[in-house]
Amino acid sequence: MTIKIYIPTSRKITIAITIYKEMTNDMTTSKEQLPDDQEVPSPTVGHGQEKEKEKEKEKGKVNRRLFLKGFLGLFGAGLMTGLYAYKIEPFWVELVKKQMAVKHLPDHLAGKTVMQISDLHIGDRCDYHYIIEALQEAQKLNPDFVVYTGDYVSWESDRQLEQLDEVLKSFVKGKIGTIGILGNHDYGRGWSQTDVAEKIVDRLTQCGVDVLRNEQKEYEGLNFIGFDDYWATNFRPEKVMANYDKSKANILLCHNPDVCDLEVWNGYEGWILSGHTHGGQCKIPFLTPPMLPVKNKKYSSGEIDLGDGRTLYVNRALGHLRQIRFNVRPEITLFELQAFAGPHLAEPALKDPLN
Ligand SMILES: [Fe+2]
Repeated sequence: MTIKIYIPTSRKITIAITIYKEMTNDMTTSKEQLPDDQEVPSPTVGHGQEKEKEKEKEKGKVNRRLFLKGFLGLFGAGLMTGLYAYKIEPFWVELVKKQMAVKHLPDHLAGKTVMQISDLHIGDRCDYHYIIEALQEAQKLNPDFVVYTGDYVSWESDRQLEQLDEVLKSFVKGKIGTIGILGNHDYGRGWSQTDVAEKIVDRLTQCGVDVLRNEQKEYEGLNFIGFDDYWATNFRPEKVMANYDKSKANILLCHNPDVCDLEVWNGYEGWILSGHTHGGQCKIPFLTPPMLPVKNKKYSSGEIDLGDGRTLYVNRALGHLRQIRFNVRPEITLFELQAFAGPHLAEPALKDPLN
């Protein structure tokens, strides 16, 4: 089930509506100035050839008017789409609600919630005040667990640490646990500045986020496994996958979904929560988004059954690298934990009443 909520960006929407109204007025004015195709009476009843010339002239005028009207219509539609993709959709958060069946889930955790927040990209290119506003709204949902799946910042300089400090004041915390992993952007330039990653981890830890770097941590019988980022310098999933317990209830956090195709899983079955792709940020309906930073283009967004007992979920990100989104709204995901009742079985065939 998907429930959509709107997180107010009233100032931007007011601007959009005002511009839309002005454009509509402009178009109406143009329409009034350019009347529809109609018979134009001849000013005088003159010679037949003169009448023909007048008609030709008028036909030319009507064609020019139609062309202008079409051009203005297209231009207006393009402008509105651009305005929407730049000013509205990047800040229009969707709360996606999903069921999450977990093997070996302790009974007392059934019905508890896991909130996934990913790719905040705090920095100069994403208005982090919008992130603060979104996190404050998410706090109202009072989740039991919160997981952050990397890319807290878009690193350019130490300024991002100050901005992160400001956002951390509004971080959503889980009643039972708050867990985080790092993304490639948390490793600074070239995804290789380990000092940047350490500073971010320090801040997250002080805020109460348990950062898992190829590690695992159990909370009331639910075990979270966290990989460090695939593109950065500390990707060592074998460290944790060598000794995880399959008989426990496990949820795995991994920033980059391409890791699903690597030989690192040691028989893991269950949910993998990822981010990284931002869903491509722009998507033409029925087509794969043109900009996806993954090798496996199937790992764009949403729930993907990997066919071997693993279920991947790719969150579409809360922040953005560039302020543009179309048909890929920013997302916060809220999973409700359920006991695993086995794989879905096909409906039994109806009995033939004659046999
Ligand atoms: Fe990202």
